[in-house]
Amino acid sequence: MSPYPASALGLGAGPVPPPSDLDLVALEALAAQNLGPMAYAYYSGGADEEVLLGENQLAWQRLRLHPRVLVDVSEITTRTSVLGDEVMMPILVAPTAIQRLAHADGELATARGAAMAGTVMCLSSLSNTPLDEVAAAGGGAPQWMQVYILRDRGRTRDMVERVVAAGYRSLAVTVDAPVSGRRTSELRGEVRLPDDLALPNLADESSAHAAGEGFMAVVSREFDPSITFDDLAWLAEISGLPVTAKGVARGDDAARCIDAGAAGVIVSNHGARQLDDAPATADVLREVVDAVAGRGEVFVDGGIRRPADVVKAVALGARAVLLGRPVLYALAAGGADGVGGLLSWFALEMRRTMALVGAPTIADLDPSLVRPAR
Ligand code: FNR
Ligand code: LAC
Repeated sequence: MSPYPASALGLGAGPVPPPSDLDLVALEALAAQNLGPMAYAYYSGGADEEVLLGENQLAWQRLRLHPRVLVDVSEITTRTSVLGDEVMMPILVAPTAIQRLAHADGELATARGAAMAGTVMCLSSLSNTPLDEVAAAGGGAPQWMQVYILRDRGRTRDMVERVVAAGYRSLAVTVDAPVSGRRTSELRGEVRLPDDLALPNLADESSAHAAGEGFMAVVSREFDPSITFDDLAWLAEISGLPVTAKGVARGDDAARCIDAGAAGVIVSNHGARQLDDAPATADVLREVVDAVAGRGEVFVDGGIRRPADVVKAVALGARAVLLGRPVLYALAAGGADGVGGLLSWFALEMRRTMALVGAPTIADLDPSLVRPAR
């Protein structure tokens, strides 16, 4: 029995059928208009000279798909499972902070959109909406919780206890933000948390820091830069949930995460918002998949903008991808229906690509279907 609202079963069967076509560039432009300069600076910005921001997308485009022919593709499905939960597509919603800056319903709308599309939303611990309310908005659809380990471990433990009580299915521990990246767009855009928004899942002082000194002040003042692999085991122990490490870029680190008890890793560079000189995630995914060697599930995010990028990632061994900014722009442009429509469109076009490469199911997507541009 699928945990998704009945309306989400099957593509296009939900209340929001996929749009006939989607232009992510036009969607971003519409979102930018709706967001205004400060919010758009926060959502779109990267780190330093923002070289990696472009590299994340270009790296997927440099990979080419090597199609098989004369394969029966009369029946295509994007269904798969992530950490034991069924999803309609290997496309999850990445954790992104302060979504009420994008839409009045914020994370509630994103949760509804993800549930309509039949996939998982990972909620940021820097959400503007209490995590239990987001869980309720998802209508029983599986959700993950992203965790920053705070200097005050008691506050982290308190939040994890609320996460477990609310029924979240796993913890995604962000490991690539021991300090904040140099957020040039945020600095220029003088990004502040508006007075009418808060960070209810952390605690009062977090909201005050984000309002007073800019958003990344929360990182430098409250995140614990001393975390190690042992903390993955600690979180798994106190929560009893599968734990993934989000922000891994190396095979040796990924193997150590699994050794430490992680159920998987998310290959990520935080959407190019941390180390601008890091590699694009598309360029390190295979190294991580080989190092994990089937001992856990590997996910990837960063620069994924086209359904073909999802096919490439899964063929290279990713269990699923996570989308960050595209979901934010869909939220800003159309609320829950915008998010549901974006995800459903991605899955619909992913099915087209799977047919064209001769892969009727997710299991048929293998590394031989991907090759470098030349
Ligand atoms: C993020 N990301 C992020 N990651 C995380 O672990 N916790 C968080 O609170 C946030 N917040 C956040 C806000 C905004 C505005 C962005 C753009 C990103 C990183 C996010 O989870 C993901 O790794 C990237 O967004 C993926 O790259 P794309 O899809 O945005 O290119
Ligand atoms: C960011 C932090 C909140 O990237 O993760 O904005």
